[in-house]
Amino acid sequence: MARSRRTFRCSKCGNETAKWAGKCQGCGSWNTVDEVAEQARGAAPAAAAAVRLTDALRPVPITQVPTDEGGELRVRTGVDELDNVLGGGLVAGSLTLLGGDPGVGKSTLLLMALSRFAKRGLPVLYASGEESMRQVRLRADRLGLSSDKLLLLAQTDFDVIEAATRECRPVVLVVDSVQTVRTQGATGIPGSVSQIREVAHRSMQLAKGTGVATWLVGHVTKSGDLAGPKVLEHFVDTVLYFEGDGRSNLRILRAVKNRFGAAGELGLFEMGDDGLREVPDASARLLAERDPYAPGTAVVSTLEGSRPLLAEVQALVGAPGAHSPARTVVGVDRSRVLMLAAVLQKQGIGLQDRDVFVNAAGGVRVTEPAADLAILAALASTTLDKPLPDDTIILGEVGLVGEVRAVSHPALRLREAARQGFRRAVVPQSCVEHAPPGLQTTGVKRVTDALDALAR
Ligand code: TYD
Ligand code: MG
Repeated sequence: MARSRRTFRCSKCGNETAKWAGKCQGCGSWNTVDEVAEQARGAAPAAAAAVRLTDALRPVPITQVPTDEGGELRVRTGVDELDNVLGGGLVAGSLTLLGGDPGVGKSTLLLMALSRFAKRGLPVLYASGEESMRQVRLRADRLGLSSDKLLLLAQTDFDVIEAATRECRPVVLVVDSVQTVRTQGATGIPGSVSQIREVAHRSMQLAKGTGVATWLVGHVTKSGDLAGPKVLEHFVDTVLYFEGDGRSNLRILRAVKNRFGAAGELGLFEMGDDGLREVPDASARLLAERDPYAPGTAVVSTLEGSRPLLAEVQALVGAPGAHSPARTVVGVDRSRVLMLAAVLQKQGIGLQDRDVFVNAAGGVRVTEPAADLAILAALASTTLDKPLPDDTIILGEVGLVGEVRAVSHPALRLREAARQGFRRAVVPQSCVEHAPPGLQTTGVKRVTDALDALAR
């Protein structure tokens, strides 16, 4: 048995000793030292002892947890690209974070979603800490989004936003942005970590307490994300990021976390003069400007969440003789490109003294290993100045010794290729059986087989 240690403490200065003394060794006062009751090891701390476990508080075997409590209440916003990313619509009482760079279109996206609710007669509340009511109205009018049920509040005091929400009971509340509002409940300026955390905490209570589906908009800050959306990710139900690359009008909405659906789902939009437009047929959009007869372009079927997407990867190599050759990549994984260049080298297509550029066209990111073979083929094609067959989709992960490895969900990927009018596919051997009828599929085991199959 562990014996509890005896401790004596001076009530005046707090000095602790193992032995009692009439005079405190710390401050010299007399008769101020008393024994403090130390807990014996293993005993419950006072707070835990005070809790009385009722049946509702007791742990339950997982097999006895009821499962028929009914699903969460979901409402489709009517913006399909958004609903799909959310996993089928917005969940009542959920707290969602929409992050993204300033100017990417977060406010426009949410205004668009709110307006769909309002036009169905459901009240919604848009609280802006960034723009005046007039500014918001002018934009909404211009985009045809205004309606009586869309309530506006230009406010940076979260306590006011909360009170307004409790009074108006909207179906959806948007706080734009979490970095511009503050609450009396925390110290610090708006945008500080303490304010952001408190606002998020209060938003969560508000959402759960009232059933209002609540959105927090968060700007991704350039300086290391310290007070940005990152600090909230663990806390909210759903985290969506809205991305664009500044090169194109394409905007990509991604779920990086979703308590009510699959993460990794993707939605596509296009920003135009008349606001955001949904891009339901993303593959067609991404391939629209492709020059299929140019050397150095290949098409891959990538998977974003459960959505197959045909994307064009382009490669360009400089003339031999570069001193310290550049390796510039956009939208693809740089380390994989370096590896693929080394694999090609082994096949006799040397890139060591040439500048190499690889680009995923249209502003998408193609970082899956499944795109390896397409990137490699594009590199070989530009180096040899021979175009790849224009009607062929290329799939496969490439290993260091030149083997072509399987990719996940080949059936989904190949079906999308067939739907977009591709007639041939060069794929890892094991994926051949998943090809849809009508797609002429060549299975390959090695990079050399693939390059042979693609020579035309
Ligand atoms: P916004 O939704 O305000 O971005 P965020 O809330 O993420 O900061 O969108 C701002 C940008 O979008 C702005 O640079 C202008 C552009 N934009 C258009 O091109 N067309 C439009 O119809 C709208 C509303 C905005
Ligand atoms: Mg905004």
